[in-house]
Amino acid sequence: MWTFHKWFERHSLILIIGILVVVSIGGLVQITPLFFIESTIERVEGVRPYTPLELAGREIYIREGCYVCHSQMIRPLRDEVERYGHYSLAAESMYDHPFQWGSKRTGPDLARVGNRYSDEWHRAHLENPRSVVPESVMPPYAFLARADVNTSLMGDHVRANRLLSVPYTDEQLANAPSDARAQAEPLGSNAYDFSQRYPGAAVRDFDGNPNRVTEMDALIAYLQMLGSGVDFSTYQADAPENTR
Ligand code: HEC
Repeated sequence: MWTFHKWFERHSLILIIGILVVVSIGGLVQITPLFFIESTIERVEGVRPYTPLELAGREIYIREGCYVCHSQMIRPLRDEVERYGHYSLAAESMYDHPFQWGSKRTGPDLARVGNRYSDEWHRAHLENPRSVVPESVMPPYAFLARADVNTSLMGDHVRANRLLSVPYTDEQLANAPSDARAQAEPLGSNAYDFSQRYPGAAVRDFDGNPNRVTEMDALIAYLQMLGSGVDFSTYQADAPENTR
């Protein structure tokens, strides 16, 4: 055994070949199984694709560069979990193209900001952050309340996401522009159909202006659903329905 080892250590070329053989066996053992499983992300109950209005809000979030100051990824460290809530699950960003984990926190993490504040709070905060948090350094985004959300491209957004394997149905795709409006018009004629297509999604006048569906509606709809899908009072990491 030891003479054999000496032989390996004295001949660098043989040692290199030996290392390559061992490393490639290790690599194969790790990588090959990934080709035979359906998904590397564990499905978790409660995670659903974005509604068209939320998708529009997400586009605005990206367009305005909110990710420059905000992350959307709670790490499994005690201080983070105590401040923000349950650590982020991979499944919670499985429909994010591209994901918004971020790398900088000038402001707090937003992965679980959904349902933490009222729509009115978000509106006041986005119009002028210092009106609710006097020491805030966040810029104001009051113009969002004056811009109508552009629903004409909503079908394309949904189609692009479907190409990336987000499971939108044909019906959801066909109705994307009208669904984007319907979610912010609770008294409108499409509100019921919308709720049938997206069970559990909030239908509200998010910006408090019933006459228009604005970019403010879209952004608040998006913020209010962030991290609110999974019910952590019943979630168990190793439950069979969550590891399917
Ligand atoms: C220049 C950095 C900066 C940018 C850009 C920025 N924010 Fe903020 N944000 C902050 C800071 C700092 C705070 C904490 C103080 C406060 O609440 O205003 C904050 C707080 C927040 C909060 C409250 C979070 C909580 O848990 O209390 C929300 C929601 C939010 N921002 C959303 C946004 C959105 C949406 C955008 C993009 C339209 C955005 N922010 C852009 C810095 C920023």
